[in-house]
Amino acid sequence: MASAILLISLLFSSAVYAWPGTVNKTGSICTVVPSVDGSDDAPGIISAFEQCGQDGSVVFMNETYNVQSVMQTTGLNNVSIHLYGTLLWSTDTGYWVNNGLPLGHLNMTTAWILGGNDITFMGHGYGTFDGQGQFGGYDLAANTSNMPGRPISLTVANTTNSAFSGLRFVQSQFWTTAITHSENLLWEDIYINSTSNSTWGTQNTDGTDTFWCNNITFSRWSVTNGDDAIAPKTNSSNLLIQDSVFYGGNGVAIGSIGQYLDTFEFIENVTAERIICYSCEYVGYVKTWTGVQQGYPPNGGGGGIGYVKNIVFRDFVAINTWVAIAHITQCTSYVGATGGCDTCKFQISNVTWGPGVGNTVTSYLAELQCSAAAPCPDINLVDSFGLIGTNGTERQITCSNIVDPTFSCTGSAGSDQY
Ligand SMILES: *[C@@H]1O[C@H](CO)[C@@H](O)[C@H](O)[C@H]1NC(C)=O
Ligand SMILES: *[C@@H]1O[C@H](CO)[C@@H](O)[C@H](O)[C@H]1NC(C)=O
Ligand SMILES: *[C@@H]1O[C@H](CO)[C@@H](O)[C@H](O)[C@H]1NC(C)=O
Ligand SMILES: *[C@@H]1O[C@H](CO)[C@@H](O)[C@H](O)[C@H]1NC(C)=O
Ligand SMILES: *[C@@H]1O[C@H](CO)[C@@H](O)[C@H](O)[C@H]1NC(C)=O
Ligand SMILES: *[C@@H]1O[C@H](CO)[C@@H](O)[C@H](O)[C@H]1NC(C)=O
Ligand SMILES: *[C@@H]1O[C@H](CO)[C@@H](O)[C@H](O)[C@H]1NC(C)=O
Ligand SMILES: *[C@@H]1O[C@H](CO)[C@@H](O)[C@H](O)[C@H]1NC(C)=O
Ligand SMILES: *[C@@H]1O[C@H](CO)[C@@H](O)[C@H](O)[C@H]1NC(C)=O
Ligand SMILES: *[C@@H]1O[C@H](CO)[C@@H](O)[C@H](O)[C@H]1NC(C)=O
Ligand SMILES: *[C@@H]1O[C@H](CO)[C@@H](O)[C@H](O)[C@H]1NC(C)=O
Ligand SMILES: *[C@@H]1O[C@H](CO)[C@@H](O)[C@H](O)[C@H]1NC(C)=O
Repeated sequence: MASAILLISLLFSSAVYAWPGTVNKTGSICTVVPSVDGSDDAPGIISAFEQCGQDGSVVFMNETYNVQSVMQTTGLNNVSIHLYGTLLWSTDTGYWVNNGLPLGHLNMTTAWILGGNDITFMGHGYGTFDGQGQFGGYDLAANTSNMPGRPISLTVANTTNSAFSGLRFVQSQFWTTAITHSENLLWEDIYINSTSNSTWGTQNTDGTDTFWCNNITFSRWSVTNGDDAIAPKTNSSNLLIQDSVFYGGNGVAIGSIGQYLDTFEFIENVTAERIICYSCEYVGYVKTWTGVQQGYPPNGGGGGIGYVKNIVFRDFVAINTWVAIAHITQCTSYVGATGGCDTCKFQISNVTWGPGVGNTVTSYLAELQCSAAAPCPDINLVDSFGLIGTNGTERQITCSNIVDPTFSCTGSAGSDQY
């Protein structure tokens, strides 16, 4: 009897703490119990979603979970996810570069694909994704743009009617999140911070990128990174970005787009409002690939067709903007390639920046380069940015192929591809 009790208590305690993959299921609530020996918690996490991903809850305790392998948790329905602890991605860069799950676009990969209907994913302002990107991202890529295989931390795919809130993402290896084939989502109170402590930068640590998405609200984001804060891409519509603070990155990027030869894509109805940008490259910009295909994604391409329209960046505060408040480029091309800026047929129209206040540390307020093959109508700078200061007495707004500008252009826009 005593030995039976001992055996049962041993089994019980070992079921809780000894090996990875443990799930404590009570009714429809699955609590993922982390391993104590540092082994991979991904199988346990996947198991929790399998057991409680329909009409249930998945709970991560206030503990650290080691994620050492890719996860796919899709087809969820009516599930609440509570992240009270930290998901710590391993630094086995060789594994991630070779085993990422395909994003299904741009030859990119991801570490976790999550999807379904009626998902409520809550971090309660505390739950954290830690990509340990210093090793697996910044130092590994060593300033190489879009180094193939660096995975996106979290991809939300084929998801409808869902909300993500109170989540923290630090040290992303690559893009922090991506959202594809999804509709009716709310993302609020999201904290993102990818900061390098070495000589290598944090490029490609985008906050999020959207593809085939409709009706998404991004509210109260804090993004510190070295690239786009939020970047609506291929076939994105009706996106609202509001009440957010961005530090040091590139601001809101519409695109890049037009990367696939003769392929039709669009971005329509994106409003970014009440954004505070500290030392951002731009507040908001639009970038398309040139009309000449050179190479393949992620770092090459071009020759796409389609349109970007109905884009608004309003009520912003931009402090020490380090290139310009407003930017359009149709010069994006294969890394290192130049020229072709007038070949792009991708149509940009109806883009408005302002009202806004702040300053640039350059003499530039706006650099607006549209392609001669598709000049841009209805480009607006509210009050010609009269409330925005520049460094020095020159206030430059450069333009190429802007149709009937309502502001004074001070020269032609250059061909830098950023
Ligand atoms: C399993 O979960 C239940 C309810 O959340 C809790 O009461 C119980 O202590 C947990 N068991 C273990 C072994 O953690
Ligand atoms: C959603 O799941 C919860 C259990 O987590 C259940 O109580 C509720 O009835 C489900 N809602 C629907 C619409 O099925
Ligand atoms: C998690 O635990 C830490 C101490 O390890 C504590 O400071 C923190 O408040 C806890 N967070 C939550 C959400 O319970
Ligand atoms: C991307 O995929 C295309 C095929 O879709 C392929 O031809 C190309 O070489 C790939 N590029 C890279 C960098 O893997
Ligand atoms: C999402 O849906 C698309 C289009 O229906 C499909 O091609 C893709 O495989 C799905 N992705 C996932 C992760 O389920
Ligand atoms: C957009 O999505 C939200 C959920 O974030 C939903 O409440 C709203 O009804 C959707 N709007 C439309 C027009 O479908
Ligand atoms: C981002 O992280 C860095 C390094 O840990 C820190 O110095 C900085 O204050 C953080 N930024 C924000 C906005 O929290
Ligand atoms: C940079 O960050 C990494 C990861 O947190 C750490 O191991 C390393 O000691 C840090 N280096 C410096 C110079 O602070
Ligand atoms: C890497 O790029 C960052 C900007 O993203 C820059 O600050 C840094 O100087 C670059 N490092 C080297 C060694 O070129
Ligand atoms: C963009 O917004 C306009 C005006 O609200 C609307 O008529 C149009 O259908 C929207 N476009 C898309 C793709 O939803
Ligand atoms: C331009 O875009 C704005 C914002 O979406 C919209 O309200 C307006 O109707 C658009 N103008 C035209 C001419 O479509
Ligand atoms: C103004 O520009 C000069 C020359 O580029 C630079 O050294 C200086 O730091 C800038 N001042 C401000 C306030 O941005």
